[in-house]
Amino acid sequence: MSDVLARLRAMQAGDVPVTGGRTLAYVYDSGLAEVDRVGREAVAAYAGSNGLDPTAFPSLLRMENELVAFAAGLLDGPETVVGTVTSGGTESVLLAMQTARDAHPGIERPRMVLPSTAHAAFHKAAHYFGVEPVLVDVGPDFRADPAATAAAIDDRTVLVVASAPSYAHGVVDLVTEIAAAAAERGVRCHVDACIGGWVLPYAARLGRDLPPWTFAVEGVTSISVDLHKYAYAPKGTSILLHRTPALRRPQYFASAAWPGYTMLNSTMQSTKSGGPLAGAWAVVQSLGDEGYLDLTRTVLEGVDRLVAGIAELPRLRVVVPPDSTLVALETDGSCDVFTVTDAMARAGWYVQPQLSFGGHGPTLHLSLSAATAAHVPEFLAALRGAVDGAVAAGPVAVDPGVADFVRALDPATLSDDDFDGLLAAAGLLGDPGAGIALPEAMAPVNALLDLAAPALREALLTAFLDRLQRP
Ligand SMILES: Cc1ncc(COP(=O)(O)O)c(C=O)c1O
Repeated sequence: MSDVLARLRAMQAGDVPVTGGRTLAYVYDSGLAEVDRVGREAVAAYAGSNGLDPTAFPSLLRMENELVAFAAGLLDGPETVVGTVTSGGTESVLLAMQTARDAHPGIERPRMVLPSTAHAAFHKAAHYFGVEPVLVDVGPDFRADPAATAAAIDDRTVLVVASAPSYAHGVVDLVTEIAAAAAERGVRCHVDACIGGWVLPYAARLGRDLPPWTFAVEGVTSISVDLHKYAYAPKGTSILLHRTPALRRPQYFASAAWPGYTMLNSTMQSTKSGGPLAGAWAVVQSLGDEGYLDLTRTVLEGVDRLVAGIAELPRLRVVVPPDSTLVALETDGSCDVFTVTDAMARAGWYVQPQLSFGGHGPTLHLSLSAATAAHVPEFLAALRGAVDGAVAAGPVAVDPGVADFVRALDPATLSDDDFDGLLAAAGLLGDPGAGIALPEAMAPVNALLDLAAPALREALLTAFLDRLQRP
């Protein structure tokens, strides 16, 4: 038995670390080992519990209500506010949209108005639930444009979306104006605070100047906020809050149309592990309001030091001053972010490349954690080295033949043969029809993807994942 766990740990050693503050996407690290331990033990204690039935597992119901109450306090929820713990940001977003759609059964071809910077989870929701996304360009400051948003609302609109903040650029949309425009038309307004919802309220208390975005803003009908991001909880929890029970009601699904138990669900899952909920509850109880205030102070000081340090670095700049803990960097063209990303990985730092989009070049995404703050000088030194190396190496070369091949591909008809041809040209193909290994260097792959239009990127990456997921 102990051999199994040893094998597990050996495999895990190849993953990016989830503690230590050197992984600047996907994981959020408080740096507090004791809090992590309590969270892990709570997950383990509830791994077999089933959140399907609160009458059988009343402790899960109690923990859920306590977490929702904490979040409601943080987000200026009125007396009427209600909420549900979900499995993550995407599920909260899916449910916000499903609820908005089902509140209007009379609208045959529903639409939602999204800033172009809204998280891809909204596109997934549109795809799953048959709601047409109406995309609105953001302004030069990367914030959603309230006038353009208002103009895009029509009789078919069931939801208007704003971000607090947006993932790619880290800025908070002008929620007051956007929610007012939605309310004027009687349309719901969802604020996606999945990544910022547990940071921004503390940032405001610490005196940071931020546009308002919580339930204090009239017209905001729902907010999503993830516990597994800046509440520093183990993975698998987010909260979707609605201003009133009536707004939440279409979220519930019940079916008595079979001979078994009447299925009654508030989320997309039916059977669901109690582990993540218990883990989140334990972490939130351990840290409490003061704990989060301290962690927010720490991480924001880290962001300030990072932004000041970047200003001293040649060849890199911050795309837009960050409103919270997310920073996007761009180069001056003398090097490419993909080579920088790989060099950072070799130096032990995980940073996330973002491909060119909407007339803007590729960027580097950094999600800072409280645990990163103390290491900002080391991070900056590594970044300087990575940039120098990338300048010396020159921009990552994409073989012109491969580039032409990619440009000629039609995403609507990408066949297995096309994809095999591309993998072979990129030197990634193993045995025909078999799986492929993860590439050593990502820069050539990212540079290739960067040449492709979004629809082709989607098709290529889907084919790539399909090849990776072979037993
Ligand atoms: C603003 C925003 N919304 C939604 C999501 C989706 O969350 P998840 O990855 O937990 O499904 C994210 C993830 O980073 C996010 O930043």
